[in-house]
Amino acid sequence: MSDQANNNEKTFTLTNDETGESCKLPIKTGTHGPSVIDIRKLYAETGHFTFDPSFTATGSCKSRLTFIDGEEGILLHRGYSIEDLAGKSTFLEVAHALLYGDLPNKAEKEDFEKDIRYHTMVNEQVHYFFRGFRRDAHPMSIMCGVVAALSAFYHDSLDIWEPEQRELSAHRLIAKIPTLAAMTYKYSIGQPFMYPRNDLSFSENFLYMCFGVPAEPYVMSPVLADAMDKIFILHADHEQNASTSTVRLAGSSQANPFACVAAGIACLWGPSHGGANQAVLEMLAEIGTKDRIPEFLARAKDKEDPFRLMGFGHRVYKNMDPRAGVLKKAAHDVLEDLGVKDDPLLEMAMELERIALEDPYFVERKLFPNVDFYSGIILKAMGFPTSMFTVLFAVARTVGWISQWKEMMEEPSIKIGRPRQLYTGEPSRPYVPLAKRK
Ligand code: ACO
Repeated sequence: MSDQANNNEKTFTLTNDETGESCKLPIKTGTHGPSVIDIRKLYAETGHFTFDPSFTATGSCKSRLTFIDGEEGILLHRGYSIEDLAGKSTFLEVAHALLYGDLPNKAEKEDFEKDIRYHTMVNEQVHYFFRGFRRDAHPMSIMCGVVAALSAFYHDSLDIWEPEQRELSAHRLIAKIPTLAAMTYKYSIGQPFMYPRNDLSFSENFLYMCFGVPAEPYVMSPVLADAMDKIFILHADHEQNASTSTVRLAGSSQANPFACVAAGIACLWGPSHGGANQAVLEMLAEIGTKDRIPEFLARAKDKEDPFRLMGFGHRVYKNMDPRAGVLKKAAHDVLEDLGVKDDPLLEMAMELERIALEDPYFVERKLFPNVDFYSGIILKAMGFPTSMFTVLFAVARTVGWISQWKEMMEEPSIKIGRPRQLYTGEPSRPYVPLAKRK
């Protein structure tokens, strides 16, 4: 029940049915989206916590970066639609918007891009870290380690209370993570690391560091560079998802930004989050041929079977993920540029999408393709192994993580994040000496 208090602040009154006690909680309204009930005084006033495992009904912060309307399939960064950004902008322009609030003007764009380019190299000592890893290590395991290790190298930007140092760390992370990601790939295939080339754009340089070799000039495909940039834009930020919340929570303890982003990378690795695009390709390979699609759809619907249709469903989107539509088109462009006709994976993905979208199970549960459904097909066509897919997601999402961290650090007061719990363990009991335990 909601009512109006004297000062015109909307409130929500919560009543304990047993005692009749009630508590008036303020309702806060944002620019878009559902309003929230501010429960910060709830415990002090009632002695109760709220219970919301998995945070399905909890807003953890105020943010001005990204808005998602999951019912309508809308995604805005700083108010700009994802379709406009992916169709008309560049990844570094989007990064500027997320970090500073607006798309850059010409001079700001030049300055920002120059600054990111200036920071693309990593300390030469970092190369030795790689040699300590097995060649067959999962690239995400290497990324967790080397990104956290950056904090051991850049002591001049670790003071989180200095805005200039925060900005320097943000630029370093955006610039160096692609270099580390490419090194991770090169290490896994036994090729020499390629130093960044600052005459190239962000995405061109990344492709060059991944696929260039010292023995011959690298021939850049503008279509692939454009698709890479789109993939980065589409993964740049997605409000308070699991990895971003991890970065914010780590940051709330005043940990340094390199450590916080490493925590985000660890969270992103899971197949329910960033690992899903790898899982999509593995699933398509497992299905094998179109005639086996019904068998796998039946398994996805069977509650006794742990199999899920990877790349389908989303915690927030209950409509088409707007990023999936952009990627579906990009997948066609990339395959055409590469001269791939009738790619069996793309055909199977489209057939799977078609059948699933007509199936009452998926329709009733509002399960639509998400961003991961088509991204894997593009990345595979570009030449990336599936194990690198989540790493590429991390390259893009670094922008979101660090922009969200920066926003949090700019709040007038920061408190450590500390959820509570509903304890369901043993009640208090006497200690039993070892000799007397049964
Ligand atoms: N295949 C089959 N059934 C599904 C799927 C799926 N991919 N996703 C959800 N469902 C079903 C659930 O079994 C549940 O059915 P029920 O109501 O009969 O119990 C219902 O749809 C609701 O699903 P939840 O699990 O409650 O949805 P939740 O919001 O917790 O999960 C998630 C979202 C994790 C993304 C889920 O849809 C999933 O596992 N999808 C596959 C993995 C994937 O693609 N992840 C990428 C997410 S996007 C990203 O991180 C970039």
